[in-house]
Amino acid sequence: MPSRPTSHQDKGSELLRKKKCAADEQTVLFNAHSNQYAMAKIKIADVAELKRGRGIVRTVGGVDIALFSVDGEVLAVHNYCPHQHVSKLHESVVEGGTITCPMHGWSFDLRTGAPVNANGQLKPIAAEVRGTDIYVTLDDDH
Ligand code: FES
Repeated sequence: MPSRPTSHQDKGSELLRKKKCAADEQTVLFNAHSNQYAMAKIKIADVAELKRGRGIVRTVGGVDIALFSVDGEVLAVHNYCPHQHVSKLHESVVEGGTITCPMHGWSFDLRTGAPVNANGQLKPIAAEVRGTDIYVTLDDDH
């Protein structure tokens, strides 16, 4: 006689559910147990939206992500400054691969997230360009 799945097995089969993200109606896999994203690649913007020296912000699944174009490369970080956790990094001054928060002047390396003259660390996000689209990869930490 086949056994009925336990309640733990039932939960496992529902571990990943789909969640709409605000950016562009893409679907993100969301781990309902850990309340985190599973690895997901999401179209977040068009290349034409990025202007040299200026950032933009897009919200994916409730997380603000800042995007910058630096020397032809698209770089993405969480938009929250570690100083006061405000979502303002997209308004930063951009010089080379460094951004300076408009609030109090803390600076960070965009590629690594390392502080230049700050006490915190940014969270870089993998970004790639495919044709005219920009994709970011979100994992369990994002
Ligand atoms: S909030 Fe960014 S430097 Fe203060």
